[in-house]
Amino acid sequence: MTQKIIIDCDPGVDDAVAILMALTSPEVEVLGVTTNVGNVSLYKTQLNARRVCEVAGRLDMKVFAGCPRSLFNRFAPESVEDTAYTAADIHGESGLGGSKLPAPTMPLQDEHAVNFIIRTLENSTGDIIMVCTGALTNMATALIMSPQIAAKIQKIVLMGGAIGLGNITPAAEYNFYCDPEAAHVVFTSKIPIVMFGLDVTRQTEFDKKWVDEIEALNSPVAQALVDILSDAFKPGAYAEPGTKGTGKVLHDVNCIAYLINPSLYEGRNVYVEIDTSDTINSGRSTVDWWNKIGKEPNALVMNKVKHEAFFALLTERISRYPKFQKSANGTL
Ligand code: BDR
Ligand code: CA
Repeated sequence: MTQKIIIDCDPGVDDAVAILMALTSPEVEVLGVTTNVGNVSLYKTQLNARRVCEVAGRLDMKVFAGCPRSLFNRFAPESVEDTAYTAADIHGESGLGGSKLPAPTMPLQDEHAVNFIIRTLENSTGDIIMVCTGALTNMATALIMSPQIAAKIQKIVLMGGAIGLGNITPAAEYNFYCDPEAAHVVFTSKIPIVMFGLDVTRQTEFDKKWVDEIEALNSPVAQALVDILSDAFKPGAYAEPGTKGTGKVLHDVNCIAYLINPSLYEGRNVYVEIDTSDTINSGRSTVDWWNKIGKEPNALVMNKVKHEAFFALLTERISRYPKFQKSANGTL
């Protein structure tokens, strides 16, 4: 059965791969793509979402820009074209690594992302899944503006947090660190949550051999993906802490892979609390893995993924994009 989803993201290299995977997967129907400030500014994340949809041939996809800053103003940029905090060291200045994708021609929707989320959920029968792969600012703002939508969300499948150590501070993972209060709003909402934290996403490391496999698919999308990922292998490129191999990780893609094939994953229903203190623990997700305090579980927290099956699925979904067209004289 097709699952209706809204992808709320901050593309972002791995967000981009997640969008590309979703758009060739009949198991999900993408109702819209909404963006937050996150890896780069709001201006760049909405631009990147459109660049990615466009190379995928989905000029009909509706892309919305959302919140330009976090709820409590932790990282308040001067404008939507700016960000007071950025992961450009990982995702590149543009946010799409070594991408050569042109500026998009498809329009940005006029409606604010949060209004789109609220309107779409209100008009739904309760069957929509929110896929959140950036800071949770848009999602939390929607819940604050219209608390009644909580009952309309089937579940929130998100990338963020960790059972173990963080990647931006000793305690926190990047998405939750960027907006801890928003994560707190989501985790106290009583909406079913499936959490892909660093413990599981760090198991989806890719290497140059896999990128070569993607290149061999010989399509505009495959080439775009190769370019986007190319910065990861430059000397001195970022390596995700706590990984065992290349340190190049496709965090956000796990949310989509899970919706296509949940049997790739193992996890546990547990209680999770977000630290909103202004301390070294800011943005930390404390996961009661051993049920030490007996609180009602509020999330299914994943901790294992079948690595080979994950990459086989991703490669197969990217292979569904049309190949480069040969011209009459046989050239590409
Ligand atoms: C998360 O942070 C971002 O840099 C990635 O896109 C991912 O969503 C990983 O911590
Ligand atoms: Ca992301």
